[in-house]
Amino acid sequence: MKARHLLTTLAVAALTLGSGAAYAQTKMKIGFSQVGSESGWRAAETKVSKIEADKRGVDLRISDAQQKQENQIRAVRSFITQGVDAIFIAPVVATGWDAVLKEAKDAKIPVVLLDRAIDTKDDTLYLTAVTSDTVYEGKVAGEWLAKETGGKCNVVELQGTVGSSPAINRKKGFDDVVAANPGMKIVRTQSGDFTRTKGKEVMESFIKAEGGGKNICAVYAHNDDMAIGAIQAIKEAGLKPGKDIKVVSIDGVPDIFKAMADGEANATVELTPNMAGPALDALMAYKKDGTAPKKWIQTSSKLFLPDTAKAEYDQRKDMY
Ligand code: AHR
Repeated sequence: MKARHLLTTLAVAALTLGSGAAYAQTKMKIGFSQVGSESGWRAAETKVSKIEADKRGVDLRISDAQQKQENQIRAVRSFITQGVDAIFIAPVVATGWDAVLKEAKDAKIPVVLLDRAIDTKDDTLYLTAVTSDTVYEGKVAGEWLAKETGGKCNVVELQGTVGSSPAINRKKGFDDVVAANPGMKIVRTQSGDFTRTKGKEVMESFIKAEGGGKNICAVYAHNDDMAIGAIQAIKEAGLKPGKDIKVVSIDGVPDIFKAMADGEANATVELTPNMAGPALDALMAYKKDGTAPKKWIQTSSKLFLPDTAKAEYDQRKDMY
Protein backbone atom coordinates (compact mmCIF):
# COMPACT_ATOMS: atom_id res chain seq x y z
CA MET A 1 0.00 0.00 0.00
CA LYS A 2 2.75 2.37 1.05
CA ALA A 3 4.84 1.39 -1.98
CA ARG A 4 1.86 2.04 -4.29
CA HIS A 5 1.34 5.46 -2.68
CA LEU A 6 5.01 6.30 -3.19
CA LEU A 7 4.79 5.30 -6.86
CA THR A 8 1.69 7.45 -7.35
CA THR A 9 3.46 10.39 -5.69
CA LEU A 10 6.47 9.90 -7.95
CA ALA A 11 4.23 9.72 -11.01
CA VAL A 12 2.47 12.94 -10.02
CA ALA A 13 5.84 14.61 -9.41
CA ALA A 14 7.09 13.45 -12.81
CA LEU A 15 3.97 14.80 -14.48
CA THR A 16 4.34 18.10 -12.64
CA LEU A 17 8.00 18.34 -13.64
CA GLY A 18 7.03 17.39 -17.15
CA SER A 19 4.51 20.19 -17.44
CA GLY A 20 7.05 22.56 -15.81
CA ALA A 21 9.57 21.62 -18.47
CA ALA A 22 6.93 22.10 -21.14
CA TYR A 23 6.17 25.56 -19.65
CA ALA A 24 9.86 26.43 -19.68
CA GLN A 25 9.99 25.46 -23.35
CA THR A 26 7.05 27.67 -24.23
CA LYS A 27 8.46 30.70 -22.40
CA MET A 28 9.79 32.91 -25.19
CA LYS A 29 13.58 33.37 -25.13
CA ILE A 30 14.92 36.58 -26.60
CA GLY A 31 18.55 37.62 -26.87
CA PHE A 32 19.13 41.38 -26.69
CA SER A 33 22.43 42.80 -27.86
CA GLN A 34 22.50 46.15 -26.09
CA VAL A 35 24.95 48.93 -27.07
CA GLY A 36 26.41 49.40 -23.58
CA SER A 37 25.83 51.89 -20.79
CA GLU A 38 27.13 55.07 -22.36
CA SER A 39 24.26 57.30 -21.26
CA GLY A 40 21.44 57.75 -18.76
CA TRP A 41 18.99 57.09 -21.58
CA ARG A 42 20.70 53.78 -22.38
CA ALA A 43 20.54 52.65 -18.73
CA ALA A 44 16.84 53.52 -18.71
CA GLU A 45 16.24 51.56 -21.91
CA THR A 46 17.90 48.48 -20.42
CA LYS A 47 15.83 48.81 -17.25
CA VAL A 48 12.55 49.30 -19.12
CA SER A 49 13.33 46.36 -21.44
CA LYS A 50 13.63 44.03 -18.43
CA ILE A 51 10.35 45.32 -17.01
CA GLU A 52 8.51 44.92 -20.32
CA ALA A 53 9.90 41.40 -20.79
CA ASP A 54 8.90 40.40 -17.24
CA LYS A 55 5.37 41.73 -17.78
CA ARG A 56 4.99 39.37 -20.73
CA GLY A 57 6.75 36.39 -19.15
CA VAL A 58 9.65 36.57 -21.61
CA ASP A 59 13.13 35.26 -20.83
CA LEU A 60 15.23 38.27 -21.97
CA ARG A 61 18.98 37.62 -22.17
CA ILE A 62 20.86 40.91 -22.35
CA SER A 63 24.40 41.12 -23.63
CA ASP A 64 26.33 44.39 -23.07
CA ALA A 65 28.47 45.19 -26.15
CA GLN A 66 30.45 47.96 -24.48
CA GLN A 67 29.86 50.11 -27.57
CA LYS A 68 31.70 47.70 -29.89
CA GLN A 69 30.11 46.23 -32.99
CA GLU A 70 32.36 43.16 -32.89
CA ASN A 71 30.91 42.31 -29.45
CA GLN A 72 27.41 42.66 -30.87
CA ILE A 73 28.19 40.33 -33.77
CA ARG A 74 29.64 37.78 -31.33
CA ALA A 75 26.52 38.08 -29.14
CA VAL A 76 24.18 37.54 -32.08
CA ARG A 77 26.08 34.39 -33.06
CA SER A 78 25.89 33.16 -29.48
CA PHE A 79 22.11 33.80 -29.40
CA ILE A 80 21.77 31.78 -32.61
CA THR A 81 23.68 28.90 -31.00
CA GLN A 82 21.44 29.13 -27.91
CA GLY A 83 18.41 28.71 -30.19
CA VAL A 84 16.57 31.80 -28.99
CA ASP A 85 13.13 32.62 -30.41
CA ALA A 86 14.11 36.13 -31.47
CA ILE A 87 16.99 38.60 -31.32
CA PHE A 88 16.80 42.29 -30.43
CA ILE A 89 19.70 44.51 -31.48
CA ALA A 90 20.37 48.15 -30.66
CA PRO A 91 23.04 48.52 -33.37
CA VAL A 92 25.97 50.65 -32.24
CA VAL A 93 26.76 51.67 -35.83
CA ALA A 94 24.63 51.55 -38.96
CA THR A 95 26.80 49.56 -41.38
CA GLY A 96 28.28 46.04 -41.41
CA TRP A 97 25.28 43.97 -40.38
CA ASP A 98 24.31 41.99 -43.48
CA ALA A 99 26.44 38.86 -42.91
CA VAL A 100 25.41 38.17 -39.32
CA LEU A 101 21.76 39.05 -39.96
CA LYS A 102 21.80 36.58 -42.85
CA GLU A 103 22.99 33.93 -40.36
CA ALA A 104 20.02 34.73 -38.10
CA LYS A 105 17.66 34.63 -41.07
CA ASP A 106 19.03 31.24 -42.17
CA ALA A 107 18.43 29.99 -38.61
CA LYS A 108 14.83 31.32 -38.91
CA ILE A 109 15.29 33.67 -35.96
CA PRO A 110 13.51 37.01 -36.40
CA VAL A 111 15.55 40.11 -35.59
CA VAL A 112 14.09 43.36 -34.26
CA LEU A 113 16.13 46.58 -34.27
CA LEU A 114 15.75 48.83 -31.25
CA ASP A 115 16.33 52.61 -31.16
CA ARG A 116 18.94 52.70 -33.96
CA ALA A 117 18.64 51.88 -37.64
CA ILE A 118 21.00 50.05 -40.01
CA ASP A 119 22.12 50.57 -43.60
CA THR A 120 21.17 47.56 -45.67
CA LYS A 121 19.79 46.95 -49.13
CA ASP A 122 17.96 43.86 -47.87
CA ASP A 123 15.22 44.79 -45.41
CA THR A 124 14.12 41.15 -45.14
CA LEU A 125 17.09 40.74 -42.78
CA TYR A 126 15.03 42.14 -39.92
CA LEU A 127 11.38 41.91 -38.95
CA THR A 128 10.89 45.50 -37.86
CA ALA A 129 12.74 48.49 -36.40
CA VAL A 130 11.38 50.33 -33.36
CA THR A 131 12.93 53.79 -33.43
CA SER A 132 12.10 57.46 -33.31
CA ASP A 133 12.50 59.72 -36.33
CA THR A 134 16.02 60.87 -35.52
CA VAL A 135 16.21 63.36 -38.41
CA TYR A 136 13.07 64.98 -37.03
CA GLU A 137 14.63 65.20 -33.55
CA GLY A 138 17.54 67.23 -34.99
CA LYS A 139 15.08 69.42 -36.87
CA VAL A 140 13.01 70.10 -33.74
CA ALA A 141 16.15 71.07 -31.79
CA GLY A 142 17.31 73.31 -34.65
CA GLU A 143 13.95 75.00 -35.11
CA TRP A 144 13.68 75.72 -31.41
CA LEU A 145 17.13 77.36 -31.48
CA ALA A 146 16.40 79.34 -34.65
CA LYS A 147 13.27 80.75 -33.05
CA GLU A 148 14.96 81.44 -29.73
CA THR A 149 17.87 83.35 -31.33
CA GLY A 150 16.03 85.07 -34.17
CA GLY A 151 17.97 82.86 -36.59
CA LYS A 152 21.37 84.29 -35.55
CA CYS A 153 23.63 81.93 -33.64
CA ASN A 154 27.14 80.46 -33.67
CA VAL A 155 26.59 76.85 -32.68
CA VAL A 156 29.00 74.22 -31.46
CA GLU A 157 27.80 70.67 -32.01
CA LEU A 158 28.54 67.58 -29.94
CA GLN A 159 27.86 64.61 -32.17
CA GLY A 160 26.98 61.12 -31.00
CA THR A 161 28.96 57.98 -31.78
CA VAL A 162 30.56 58.18 -35.22
CA GLY A 163 28.67 56.00 -37.71
CA SER A 164 25.60 55.52 -35.50
CA SER A 165 22.24 56.29 -37.06
CA PRO A 166 21.16 58.86 -34.44
CA ALA A 167 24.44 60.79 -34.85
CA ILE A 168 24.11 60.83 -38.65
CA ASN A 169 20.43 61.75 -38.62
CA ARG A 170 20.36 64.22 -35.74
CA LYS A 171 23.15 66.08 -37.52
CA LYS A 172 21.20 66.06 -40.79
CA GLY A 173 17.97 67.35 -39.24
CA PHE A 174 19.79 70.19 -37.50
CA ASP A 175 21.94 71.03 -40.58
CA ASP A 176 18.77 71.44 -42.66
CA VAL A 177 17.56 74.14 -40.25
CA VAL A 178 20.97 75.87 -40.29
CA ALA A 179 20.91 75.85 -44.11
CA ALA A 180 17.53 77.60 -44.03
CA ASN A 181 18.80 80.31 -41.63
CA PRO A 182 21.73 82.30 -43.07
CA GLY A 183 22.52 83.81 -39.66
CA MET A 184 23.07 80.39 -38.07
CA LYS A 185 26.43 78.72 -38.33
CA ILE A 186 27.99 75.56 -36.92
CA VAL A 187 31.41 76.86 -35.92
CA ARG A 188 32.73 73.61 -34.41
CA THR A 189 31.52 70.03 -34.56
CA GLN A 190 33.01 66.86 -33.08
CA SER A 191 31.93 63.53 -31.63
CA GLY A 192 31.53 63.19 -27.88
CA ASP A 193 30.50 59.53 -28.31
CA PHE A 194 27.20 60.05 -26.45
CA THR A 195 29.05 60.15 -23.10
CA ARG A 196 29.17 62.78 -20.36
CA THR A 197 32.97 62.60 -20.00
CA LYS A 198 33.70 63.07 -23.69
CA GLY A 199 31.00 65.72 -24.01
CA LYS A 200 32.78 67.72 -21.33
CA GLU A 201 36.25 67.19 -22.84
CA VAL A 202 35.15 68.25 -26.32
CA MET A 203 33.24 71.27 -25.00
CA GLU A 204 36.37 72.39 -23.13
CA SER A 205 38.29 72.32 -26.40
CA PHE A 206 35.49 74.23 -28.19
CA ILE A 207 35.51 76.91 -25.51
CA LYS A 208 39.29 77.28 -25.74
CA ALA A 209 39.17 77.54 -29.54
CA GLU A 210 36.30 80.05 -29.54
CA GLY A 211 37.63 82.96 -27.49
CA GLY A 212 37.03 81.35 -24.10
CA GLY A 213 33.43 80.68 -25.12
CA LYS A 214 32.60 84.28 -26.07
CA ASN A 215 32.03 83.40 -29.74
CA ILE A 216 29.61 80.59 -28.89
CA CYS A 217 25.89 81.29 -28.77
CA ALA A 218 24.70 77.72 -28.22
CA VAL A 219 25.72 74.09 -27.85
CA TYR A 220 23.66 71.48 -29.67
CA ALA A 221 24.34 68.03 -28.18
CA HIS A 222 23.03 64.85 -29.81
CA ASN A 223 22.14 63.57 -26.35
CA ASP A 224 21.49 64.90 -22.87
CA ASP A 225 24.52 63.25 -21.29
CA MET A 226 26.93 65.16 -23.54
CA ALA A 227 24.92 68.31 -22.77
CA ILE A 228 25.40 67.72 -19.03
CA GLY A 229 29.14 67.32 -19.64
CA ALA A 230 29.10 70.55 -21.68
CA ILE A 231 27.26 72.41 -18.90
CA GLN A 232 30.06 71.44 -16.52
CA ALA A 233 32.70 72.70 -18.97
CA ILE A 234 30.83 76.00 -19.45
CA LYS A 235 30.64 76.53 -15.69
CA GLU A 236 34.32 75.74 -15.22
CA ALA A 237 35.12 78.34 -17.91
CA GLY A 238 33.37 80.94 -15.75
CA LEU A 239 30.30 81.26 -18.00
CA LYS A 240 26.63 80.63 -17.33
CA PRO A 241 25.12 77.62 -19.16
CA GLY A 242 21.60 78.32 -20.37
CA LYS A 243 22.33 82.06 -20.52
CA ASP A 244 25.80 82.91 -21.89
CA ILE A 245 25.70 79.70 -23.91
CA LYS A 246 22.32 78.10 -24.64
CA VAL A 247 22.04 74.34 -24.32
CA VAL A 248 19.75 72.18 -26.47
CA SER A 249 19.88 68.39 -26.62
CA ILE A 250 17.93 65.15 -27.09
CA ASP A 251 16.66 62.32 -24.79
CA GLY A 252 14.69 63.81 -21.90
CA VAL A 253 16.53 62.15 -19.01
CA PRO A 254 15.93 63.38 -15.44
CA ASP A 255 19.32 65.16 -15.18
CA ILE A 256 18.54 67.46 -18.10
CA PHE A 257 15.16 68.35 -16.56
CA LYS A 258 17.00 69.17 -13.35
CA ALA A 259 19.43 71.35 -15.33
CA MET A 260 16.49 73.07 -17.07
CA ALA A 261 14.72 73.67 -13.77
CA ASP A 262 17.98 75.22 -12.48
CA GLY A 263 18.21 77.49 -15.55
CA GLU A 264 21.31 75.73 -16.92
CA ALA A 265 19.76 74.08 -19.99
CA ASN A 266 17.11 75.36 -22.38
CA ALA A 267 15.44 72.56 -24.31
CA THR A 268 15.40 68.80 -24.85
CA VAL A 269 13.63 66.53 -27.33
CA GLU A 270 12.28 63.45 -25.62
CA LEU A 271 13.20 59.94 -26.79
CA THR A 272 11.20 57.25 -25.03
CA PRO A 273 13.30 54.51 -23.38
CA ASN A 274 10.45 52.06 -23.99
CA MET A 275 11.47 50.52 -27.29
CA ALA A 276 11.11 46.95 -26.01
CA GLY A 277 7.36 47.17 -25.26
CA PRO A 278 6.28 47.86 -28.87
CA ALA A 279 8.94 45.42 -30.11
CA LEU A 280 7.63 42.61 -27.90
CA ASP A 281 4.02 43.27 -28.91
CA ALA A 282 4.94 43.16 -32.61
CA LEU A 283 7.01 40.04 -32.17
CA MET A 284 4.33 38.20 -30.18
CA ALA A 285 1.66 38.97 -32.78
CA TYR A 286 4.03 37.75 -35.47
CA LYS A 287 4.78 34.52 -33.58
CA LYS A 288 1.10 33.92 -32.82
CA ASP A 289 -0.41 34.10 -36.28
CA GLY A 290 2.22 35.46 -38.63
CA THR A 291 0.97 39.07 -38.48
CA ALA A 292 3.76 41.03 -40.16
CA PRO A 293 4.49 44.30 -38.34
CA LYS A 294 5.20 47.56 -40.15
CA LYS A 295 8.86 47.73 -41.14
CA TRP A 296 9.24 50.85 -39.00
CA ILE A 297 7.42 51.24 -35.69
CA GLN A 298 7.94 54.92 -34.96
CA THR A 299 8.06 56.23 -31.41
CA SER A 300 7.15 59.84 -30.74
CA SER A 301 9.50 62.80 -30.18
CA LYS A 302 8.46 65.79 -28.15
CA LEU A 303 10.09 69.10 -27.30
CA PHE A 304 10.30 70.02 -23.61
CA LEU A 305 11.13 73.50 -22.27
CA PRO A 306 12.00 74.83 -18.78
CA ASP A 307 8.38 75.72 -17.89
CA THR A 308 7.53 72.07 -17.20
CA ALA A 309 11.03 70.94 -16.20
CA LYS A 310 10.50 70.72 -12.45
CA ALA A 311 7.32 68.66 -12.83
CA GLU A 312 8.94 66.41 -15.44
CA TYR A 313 11.96 65.88 -13.20
CA ASP A 314 9.79 64.94 -10.20
CA GLN A 315 7.81 62.50 -12.30
CA ARG A 316 10.79 60.85 -14.00
CA LYS A 317 13.52 60.77 -11.37
CA ASP A 318 12.58 57.34 -9.98
CA MET A 319 11.63 55.81 -13.32
CA TYR A 320 15.14 56.07 -14.73
O1 AHR B 1 20.21 55.48 -29.89
C1 AHR B 1 19.72 56.35 -28.95
C2 AHR B 1 20.82 57.19 -28.37
O2 AHR B 1 21.80 56.36 -27.83
C3 AHR B 1 20.41 58.08 -27.23
O3 AHR B 1 19.93 59.32 -27.63
C4 AHR B 1 21.70 58.24 -26.53
O4 AHR B 1 21.61 58.79 -25.24
C5 AHR B 1 22.18 56.84 -26.54
O5 AHR B 1 23.46 56.66 -26.23
